[in-house]
Amino acid sequence: MEYIRKERIGKPELFTGRKEELTFFLKWINDIKLEKSQSTALLARRKMGKTAILERLFNITFFKNDGVIPFYYEVKETKMGMVDFCQDFFLKFIYQYIAFKTRKREYLNPENTTDFTTVIEIVKKEGLGYLEGIINGASYAVTHEKIDMLWEIAREAPKTIAERQNEFIVQMIDEFQFLNAMIYLDNRRRSNRNDI
Ligand SMILES: Nc1ncnc2c1ncn2[C@@H]1O[C@H](COP(=O)(O)OP(=O)(O)OP(=O)(O)O)[C@@H](O)[C@H]1O
Ligand SMILES: [Mg+2]
Repeated sequence: MEYIRKERIGKPELFTGRKEELTFFLKWINDIKLEKSQSTALLARRKMGKTAILERLFNITFFKNDGVIPFYYEVKETKMGMVDFCQDFFLKFIYQYIAFKTRKREYLNPENTTDFTTVIEIVKKEGLGYLEGIINGASYAVTHEKIDMLWEIAREAPKTIAERQNEFIVQMIDEFQFLNAMIYLDNRRRSNRNDI
């Protein structure tokens, strides 16, 4: 098997055990196609191997290429403004989607995840022009700081594209507890109050 995404564990052979967990989640991912799976949280104490499992699930699902597109996103433990967060989430999703569709590793590590022009050129070049509309929408919302619109576009992007293309996408959000603690409505990270 090819491990398209470099795992933090290091060489893939260093991953041991976790057979039961992997079997459970691989079936859960497969059941997404049958619309049987519901959102699930993986909870465990620190350093128990949650990230390792998610990264491995990403690689297996990517490699299998069997009707479910994997998206892995790690929420960082640093304060982030809403605009920056939405843009980062959106563009990382788009790049992982492009990587899956084109089977090209380079798109998993894009040089630039702040620039919408480059990604538009890439989708045109790779025959994924149907993504142009949503990218332009996100770009407009960023430029005009339309936060509610941007959050809606970013949060819904995987669902929007999956439904429109008749595809299935599994979202794996690592460290999701930081979503509440670290994302600030005010892009200057001063306040979570809309009116200040
Ligand atoms: N299945 C495994 N086999 C071998 N080593 C593992 C396995 N899973 C995790 N490890 C190692 O254990 C350590 C912690 O793993 P990991 O970062 O995945 O845990 P975590 O639950 O995501 O931690 P945190 O709560 O800090 O996010 C890492 O050094 C990782 O390489
Ligand atoms: Mg972790």
